[in-house]
Order: sequence, then structure tokens, then C-alpha cells
Amino acid sequence: MRISSPYLGFGGDSWTRFANRLQSWLTNLGAWLLIDMFDTFYDHVVERLRGMQEVRRLISKHGDDFDQHIGNQVLERGQRPCETEYLALLYAYRYAPMHHAALRSVMPETSPNVLIDFGGGPGTAMLALSGNRGTTFERLSLELAQGMRAIASVAASMEGSICKRNSEHAFPESRFWEEAARMADGRAVLLVFSYFFAQELTRPFVRALANRIAALSPSAMTLIYTNPVGPSASWMPRGDVHGWYKEFTKHLGHQVRILQQSYSYNVLSNLAEPVTRSGDCAYEVWKVR
Ligand SMILES: C[S@@+](CC[C@H](N)C(=O)[O-])C[C@H]1O[C@@H](n2cnc3c(N)ncnc32)[C@H](O)[C@@H]1O
Repeated sequence: MRISSPYLGFGGDSWTRFANRLQSWLTNLGAWLLIDMFDTFYDHVVERLRGMQEVRRLISKHGDDFDQHIGNQVLERGQRPCETEYLALLYAYRYAPMHHAALRSVMPETSPNVLIDFGGGPGTAMLALSGNRGTTFERLSLELAQGMRAIASVAASMEGSICKRNSEHAFPESRFWEEAARMADGRAVLLVFSYFFAQELTRPFVRALANRIAALSPSAMTLIYTNPVGPSASWMPRGDVHGWYKEFTKHLGHQVRILQQSYSYNVLSNLAEPVTRSGDCAYEVWKVR
């Protein structure tokens, strides 16, 4: 929210400018004090789910197997589009901690001016970026599922958020690319593909995405790719779990060098069983410009 002078009780543009600058300093100070936005977000998700009758029913039916049940059956191992708030909250509960930990383990410490988040989901990359000591950033997200977009908007406006502007789009159409070009122009941009290429839905967009990204003119542009280490699915080219990512980077003239990274995290305020989980992710971080 920007502060306007009538709100402060005195008029004049200089006061408005001063108030806005003060607000921006305070936000950056919040970033330096480093409030862990992911924990705040996760508590919110758990609270919302606890209040849902269907969730209580599933917990009493599946007990300690609840997490496994929603991962495998309800969310279909991450392949089900999360159109409703219920599905998106379940996704944020079951998969976002994993993807957040994976991103934190590979994320560069320098903060960008702009985050372009492909398949942004519930705002996982935005929350991971909030763990960086740095200044505020703007976010542009491409996300098909309405439930995900709604939750990401809540995450962006949480108290202490250093995402100062959040813009969500459902399809990679001209409005999205116009906004991307405007935001990227002459600025430091971070492109994130966090488990985006793990979904079959991404298949038709690969070449167009690469062409549009090549046409942006940032001052600097870094790309982060994370994905499962396996197994591959039959719809992936040559049965390779990185097949669509390789196809995408080929159009950008980039030769991939995919690495592997271990991560672990605690799920303390869990619905069923507090646990420490660990896993491996495949990733690549590279400078596009
Ligand atoms: C596996 S989830 C990852 C979400 C988030 N990036 C994370 O790491 O937690 C992939 C997301 O990409 C979205 N998605 C898949 N294909 C898409 C497309 N063609 N356009 C926009 N969003 C897409 C899905 O709806 C889903 O939310």
C-alpha cells in the first residue's frame, strides 16, 4: 500500500514522496531483520486447512498416512491442476516446503529487482527470495490454476513481505509479455522455473517461452531451474526428466549442465506428523545475459 498525503493529514507532493520513501526504507529494514516469510506463510496454510471439514475427515481416516494420501491420491503426485483454494492449500502444505528448501539450497544471495516466476504456484519462489538479505522486488507470475494464484496473492501481501508488487497471469498471452518487457527493461531479472517442467501442461509452451525470453532487455538476467532427479514420465521427450527443459534451453542457445543438490527441512506445525524431511533436487543456475 502506498501512503497518500491526505492520510497523513497534510497536503503536498513532497510529503507524499517523503512518506513513500520512508515506507520503502522501513520495508528494506524488515528485509534486513530477516523475518522468515515461509514459516509465516506455512502457519497460515496449516491454520486454513485445519478449519476445513474435509481435511479433518481425511486426517481421522488416514492418520499418519495423511501426507502420503494427499500427495498420491488427491494431488496425483503433483500433476493435478489446483483450481480450487482447497487443492492449492493442500499443494502448499504437501509440496511447497520441499520446493522452497530446494530453491533455498541453490538460490544466489544477490537479490533481483524483478522475479519472473513460471508456474509460480502458491508463491514458493517469492517466499524463498524473501530469505535473501536484500532489497524489495517485483514479481510477475504465470500460473494456470486459479487456486494457486489466489494463495500467491495472499503470500505477497503478508506482513513483512518484501515483494512490493505482485502480478498474476493465467496464460502466456500478449498482456503477460508486455508486462514482462516493461518490468525487465534495464533491470536485474531472475527467471525461476521451480518444478515447472515436471508437469505435462508445460509441453506446448516450450519454444514460445524461449523466444519471448530472448526478446527481453534486462541489465542482467539469471535463470534458476529446479526439478525432480527422477523418475521420468512417458510424456517427457526421450523419457528424460529434463527433456522439456533441454528443449527450452536449446532455443536459447544454451548447453545445459544439470547438477544435483540435497536439502532438508523441518515440518513442525504439521497436520499429521511433525517430521524432518530430506530429498534431492536437480538444478541449474545460469546467467542468460
Ligand atoms: C509442480 S508446480 C510448482 C509450483 C511452484 N513453482 C513450486 O515450486 O512450488 C507447477 C505449477 O506450474 C503450473 N503450470 C503448469 N503448466 C503451466 C502453464 N503452461 N502455464 C502456467 N502455469 C503452468 C501449474 O498449475 C503448477 O501450479
